[in-house]
Parts: sequence; structure tokens; C-alpha cells
Amino acid sequence: MKVDGKTRVCALMGDPVEHTLSPLVQNTFSEEEGVNAVYTALRVKKGDVRTAMEGAFALGMQGFNVTVPHKEAVIPYLSGIDPMAESIGAVNTLVKDEEGYRGYNTDALGILRQIKELDTDIKGRMVIMLGAGGAANAVLHAMYSLGIKGAYILNRSVEKAEKKFGNDMRNVILPLEGFSEIPGDQYFCVQCTSVGLAPDSDAAPIEDPGFYKKISRAVDVIYSPFETKFMKLVKEAGGQAENGLKMLVYQAAESFKLFHGVEVKEESIRRAEEKIKDAMGESSS
Ligand code: ATR
Repeated sequence: MKVDGKTRVCALMGDPVEHTLSPLVQNTFSEEEGVNAVYTALRVKKGDVRTAMEGAFALGMQGFNVTVPHKEAVIPYLSGIDPMAESIGAVNTLVKDEEGYRGYNTDALGILRQIKELDTDIKGRMVIMLGAGGAANAVLHAMYSLGIKGAYILNRSVEKAEKKFGNDMRNVILPLEGFSEIPGDQYFCVQCTSVGLAPDSDAAPIEDPGFYKKISRAVDVIYSPFETKFMKLVKEAGGQAENGLKMLVYQAAESFKLFHGVEVKEESIRRAEEKIKDAMGESSS
């Protein structure tokens, strides 16, 4: 990687950031696409977001990805907000303009592309979503843009899910143990809780095999471990499941396009996926 006086600087802003894969992905894209840019990860503490954004703007930094706990906190300090980010209520990408940073949300585009590539048409169907946290917002937005009829949203805290998603009558909110109220089977399901994330890899949000009989196809937004307990349970019940690695690289490719105006080629995306698998000690087969 060549760094000179013209190198654009981008970074991830979050807390913690030590385990992020974003620098690996973004720097791979820059190398593969021949873009003179460098990407690092910066720990920004809660309460320091405004100062960080003003300082970054003064330094001429080109853009940021924003992660936990700042995805909503950056919003008041933006120079503008993309309509999709506004309707999701969270920003994961900042791009420098004349006055400051404009906010976008590429998470929804990432999951949208991953779902589109599955040979599962969810248009006009009810789907199941586990979780009502930050990831769930983007996932639900993506699924509605693909034309789902509605969603059974199962969450540990029904109150939180009701507050967030209950005002849309197409959503049916249930507790995790309330899955037996979902009629029939062959559902598409997205797992958006943090349950099963390493190092708690032997946990799943729902353990009862009865739930998994309802699912024909699933995506877990978690990719560490590479195969989650949730994915194992879906497969044991005869369904197909994949992790959230594609969502990660696709949202990164959308952010890269916003930072640099360059479309990331399919082979560069595959290259980034291979590097992530290597970094995680997974075989690249
Ligand atoms: P993210 O931004 O990754 O979605 P989050 O906003 O903290 O993270 O949301 C975490 C999700 O995992 C929530 O749906 C949370 O359920 P609650 O809304 O009831 O808190 C869910 N979650 C976390 N730990 C859980 C656990 N031990 N059992 C069940 N659900 C859990």
C-alpha cells in the first residue's frame, strides 16, 4: 500500500473497535480497485462524537463507518441525512461534504443484497425476525423494501419490540417463547439478536427444535462463529442457513462507493471474503 500526500483517510468510529474487520475489508477494496486511500479504526468514547466529527472535518478526513454505540448519536451533528438512514433512524456511514458529514445507512443495502441473492422470493410473504436491536431496524427495512407482507418479530423484551415496531400493523410482536402462535411453516427467518456471538457460541435465542421446524431458509447476522448455534439448529431441522458475512462485505462495498465514488467489483468482494475467512481461521472453501 502506497501512502503519500494525496492519500484519503477513512476510519471506523466506535467503542470498542479492537476486533473490527472493517479495516481489512476497506483496505482490500482500495488495493483491489487501485484507490489511494487508507482505512483505520478509531475508538471514540460516548459523549465525544461531536468533537470527533468536528476534528475529523478540520483534518479533512473523507469518511467514516459508525458502529456501536454511535449509530444514533451522530445524527444531530450531520450536515445532511440520506432518506433511507432517516427512516431507519440510524447512520453507519459518514461522507464529507462542504459543511461537514452527510449520514447514510448501508446496513440495509447489505442485507438487501444478501437476501436477493438467495433463491427465496419473500415478496408477499410473512417472515420471521428474531430481535429488536439496532441490526433489526436495518433488516426489517430491507425486507419491507423487498415487498414482504409482514413480519413476526420475536424478542426477549416484548415491550421494546412493541415500542419500536408495534405501530406498523403488518408486524406481529411476540415473546421468544411465543413462536407456537406462528401458523404453518416454510418461513424465511433472520436472526438479529446478539445471542450466539463468540465467545458465547453455544447459545441460540430459541433452543426449542419445534421453532426450527417452521423455517426453510435463514440468515444469522452474526458471522463469528462462522456457523452459529442458530444456523446448526435450522440445518438440523432440515432448513438452509447462512451467516452474516455477505451482509458485512456488501454494506462495506456500499460505504466504499460513497467514500470514493468507485463501484467495488464482484471479484474484489470475494477477495475480501477470503481474507476475512483467513483472519478468522476458517477454510476458504
Ligand atoms: P444490535 O445493535 O447488534 O442489534 P442491540 O441493539 O443491543 O444490538 O440488540 C440486541 C438484541 O439481542 C436485542 O433484540 C436483545 O433483546 P432485548 O431487546 O430484549 O434486550 C437481544 N438479546 C441480547 N441478549 C439476549 C439474551 N440473552 N436473550 C435473548 N435476547 C437477547
